[in-house]
Amino acid sequence: MTVIELDDVRKIYRSGTLAVEAVRGVSARIDEGEMVAIMGPSGSGKSTLMHIIGCLDVPTSGTYRLMGDDVSRMSEVELAEVRNHRIGFVFQQYNLLPSLQAWRNVELPLTYAGVGKLERRQRAMEALERVGVAEQALHRPGEMSGGQQQRVAVARALVTNPDLILCDEPTGALDTVAAAEVLSLLQELHRAGRTVVLITHEAEVAAGAEKIMRIRDGLFVGDGGLHVGAGA
Ligand SMILES: Nc1ncnc2c1ncn2[C@@H]1O[C@H](COP(=O)(O)OP(=O)(O)O)[C@@H](O)[C@H]1O
Ligand SMILES: [Mg+2]
Repeated sequence: MTVIELDDVRKIYRSGTLAVEAVRGVSARIDEGEMVAIMGPSGSGKSTLMHIIGCLDVPTSGTYRLMGDDVSRMSEVELAEVRNHRIGFVFQQYNLLPSLQAWRNVELPLTYAGVGKLERRQRAMEALERVGVAEQALHRPGEMSGGQQQRVAVARALVTNPDLILCDEPTGALDTVAAAEVLSLLQELHRAGRTVVLITHEAEVAAGAEKIMRIRDGLFVGDGGLHVGAGA
């Protein structure tokens, strides 16, 4: 099953008479169970592409299919549905709500999805256990290390059982040890069959994926899917 299918996707930002083509005709396929890194230098279009893949923005032209559904032309309401149910997000700065205990942060996407209270709590606890921070369930973000907070964020991304886990510089705010732990957690989820896309400017992080897609000036370099170990 193909999870992500991009077909000649372009994104043009316009302000006044200025137009910046941040993504300039990108085509790619990512299949179920793959772990793919999208790597490129600053300004190459990573965030723009991440916003499109994450249904936070729509392409100016071209087609984006998620699990076969064309999301290129969905309404705001439909996009919000897709974001909530089908994509789990992990951001560089964790994006946890500081006033909520870890398990409350994790159950939040289930609240939006209308899941009942008991099931929410159970699934949140299971997700925390899955990522190794069950003991921190009652801690607020400020009472946890960066690595622990990012694990909670991964638990929150997992809890809805999404089609795709989409990570934007997931280790960017972590020290070397915590970064390696979070990366190996993502690899573990991948081995368990999850589809993981991670966006990074760091070659060492990208090397942890099964496949690297290099982006430069809004375009994928080469065929868009170079297998790790095939040479740089
Ligand atoms: N909202 C925006 N308006 C205008 N230009 C933008 C906007 N967002 C990004 N860009 C431009 O698009 C290009 C790609 O940016 P971005 O996707 O943020 O790259 P990256 O995440 O790889 O650093 C850059 O030239 C950037 O200046
Ligand atoms: Mg960026």
